[in-house]
Amino acid sequence: MENVDNWQTKISVQQKQKIMSLVETFNRPCPRYTSYPTAKQFIPLEGSEEQINESELYAELDGNLKTVSLYLHIPFCQQLCYYCGCHKFITQNKEKGQTYLNYLIKEIEQRAPSLPAEVQVTDIHLGGGTPTFFSDEQLQSLANALKANFNISDKCEWAIELDPRTLDSTRINNIIDIGFNRFSLGIQDFNDKTQIAINRQQSYQSIESLILAIRQRQAATTNFSINFDLVYGLPHQNQQTFMQTLENVVSLNPDRIAMFNYAHMPSMFPSQAKIKQADLPNAQLKVAILIDAINYLEINGYRQVGLDHFVKADDNLYQAQQNETLIRNFQGYAASATQVTLGLGVSAISDYSVAMLQNDKSLKCYYQALDLQQTAFAKVIFRSNQDKQRALIIDNLLCHLMLPIQQIPQRDFAEEWRQLRILVSLGLLTIERHKIVLTEVGQIFIRNVAQVFDSYNKLSHVNGFSNAV
Ligand SMILES: C[S@@+](CC[C@H](N)C(=O)[O-])C[C@H]1O[C@@H](n2cnc3c(N)ncnc32)[C@H](O)[C@@H]1O
Ligand code: SF4
Repeated sequence: MENVDNWQTKISVQQKQKIMSLVETFNRPCPRYTSYPTAKQFIPLEGSEEQINESELYAELDGNLKTVSLYLHIPFCQQLCYYCGCHKFITQNKEKGQTYLNYLIKEIEQRAPSLPAEVQVTDIHLGGGTPTFFSDEQLQSLANALKANFNISDKCEWAIELDPRTLDSTRINNIIDIGFNRFSLGIQDFNDKTQIAINRQQSYQSIESLILAIRQRQAATTNFSINFDLVYGLPHQNQQTFMQTLENVVSLNPDRIAMFNYAHMPSMFPSQAKIKQADLPNAQLKVAILIDAINYLEINGYRQVGLDHFVKADDNLYQAQQNETLIRNFQGYAASATQVTLGLGVSAISDYSVAMLQNDKSLKCYYQALDLQQTAFAKVIFRSNQDKQRALIIDNLLCHLMLPIQQIPQRDFAEEWRQLRILVSLGLLTIERHKIVLTEVGQIFIRNVAQVFDSYNKLSHVNGFSNAV
């Protein structure tokens, strides 16, 4: 294999050396900031007097609400992937899927009427767990319920997370017929040894045939998009094995790649203890894998978006980053203009801008609440003015890789400025006239930079998060 240091790269050899020298300094627990404040700051809602009225939350948006996104969580999987940090239940019992679907539709019917009728749904995302745990008929019923209860835009993006092991080309065609046009495939890694160690085996050929099935249908339309989820930092990965995985990925030509940093927290996710610590790449190796991957994807036509996404230059996600309209959400990044996300299903988080609410994580409590005609909200955080100010700064950093100086006045952020100057001296940031800009080095440690503005998870006493690198 060619020496990757000789490529015309995004990250130069000098920058790589600088990054490697900083790995130990920044390798500490740090949120991924899919929201600010993070879900760890949510407070339990106890007692029926705490019932939240969604209409009041919409009213707080002062008529500015034109569009919303929907996120639906389907929490079942047939087999346990040892690395998994998602909220899921492993079962072979398909009846559980039908019961869950009935309740999910009940929740849709209960909550949709609070949303002002003129507000359009522009994005729908089915995540999990494994949405394709549902049969095609069940997915159709869910889509019907959404269409019957919400005002869905003709241009709505219908996204679904697909576990390739649950699919064949017939299912793909059915899913397309239902109306889905954004497909996210869980790939993780193509290496056999890694696949065995994570208890998730799926061949290149099986993925290739699914992609062919999607692309065949794409010929008749223009708005399909295929995303691959990859994870770096998994057992037995090194620069060579991951490069091989990336060569396979690029040969299948997905429109987007989400390359997640493996979050290893066996105390929170017990199945991760089945992965031997000794088989995991250390922080230095993880970062070396990441740098090679960024450079390889860049020369193969993918542009890095924010923390961990890579897309073609004509993709609306990259354009949104360029136009500064990109937003961060619980699914990662979106090019959507919506302020509000309604999370439906067990554990799903709704973001009403003024507040975030999380549904109960337990199936039993979720079902009980809906039987009582109540919302299934279990946790809440109302964003204070200070939270809103900090959320804006962190979003700017994670989406647009810069901080407008007017957003961080010295009088309010004296300690943050002290820390920013240290990061400038370490080469993570440069100060320009009106903004502070992340360097290529800083982009690798972007979570650490965002943490400077996190008033809940200060550097000195943060735990319950995965390591930043
Ligand atoms: C809900 S799963 C995707 C759909 C389907 N369940 C599947 O696995 O194919 C969401 C994604 O989260 C990522 N993921 C899960 N656990 C992770 C962890 N511990 N660290 C980093 N990424 C993780 C994986 O890339 C996975 O594809
Ligand atoms: S990675 Fe996907 S399929 Fe595997 S356990 Fe997690 S949610 Fe289920």
